[in-house]
Amino acid sequence: MIEDDIEKVYFSREELADIVSKLGAQISKDYENKNLLLVSILKGSVVFMADLMRAITVPCNIDFMCVSSYGSGTRTSGTVKIIKDLDIDLKGKDLLLVEDILDSGVTLSYVSALLKTRNPNSIRVCTLLDKPERRIADIKADYSGAHVPDEFVVGYGLDYDEKYRNLPYIGVLKREIYSNAQNKE
Ligand code: IMP
Ligand code: MG
Repeated sequence: MIEDDIEKVYFSREELADIVSKLGAQISKDYENKNLLLVSILKGSVVFMADLMRAITVPCNIDFMCVSSYGSGTRTSGTVKIIKDLDIDLKGKDLLLVEDILDSGVTLSYVSALLKTRNPNSIRVCTLLDKPERRIADIKADYSGAHVPDEFVVGYGLDYDEKYRNLPYIGVLKREIYSNAQNKE
């Protein structure tokens, strides 16, 4: 069972539902009469995106971008690779980048700078979780669901080595799961 690898539950299903509905209400207010395009940064934000879009009551388009900045460890590799680009033309769109977690900020500042060159009307960032102490890049979230301390969390889309994305809550991974792997790096 994947549950056995979890030290403690950080945000339960119910707490996540509450966080997402508050974000959805705020975004719906702010994007009335705008041209909202939700851009989900795969794969981590897929569960959050699916819930958030249903908590938004104004018209919107959606698109997906897949980037990778992590190897199998728990720290950023510092390089960002585009694995799947957007399909939609960004001209005139009010982009909202939807992220699972803003950590060093390297991934999102790269993506945001790239998308700016395609002349959207505006770009903002919505992250479910924020680890502000770990920020390296100059980027902040316009919408943030909750702060988390410097602990590695998984579930609700977030992975460790591509696992645990299907946990319905967010939990802290037992240290022994990744310390063995890191010692080998
Ligand atoms: P950044 O470029 O360092 O901000 O990295 C952001 C990405 O790193 C996120 O989209 C996640 O995929 C991953 N990440 C950062 N912290 C965690 C964590 O605690 N658990 C799982 N993934 C994380
Ligand atoms: Mg990840």
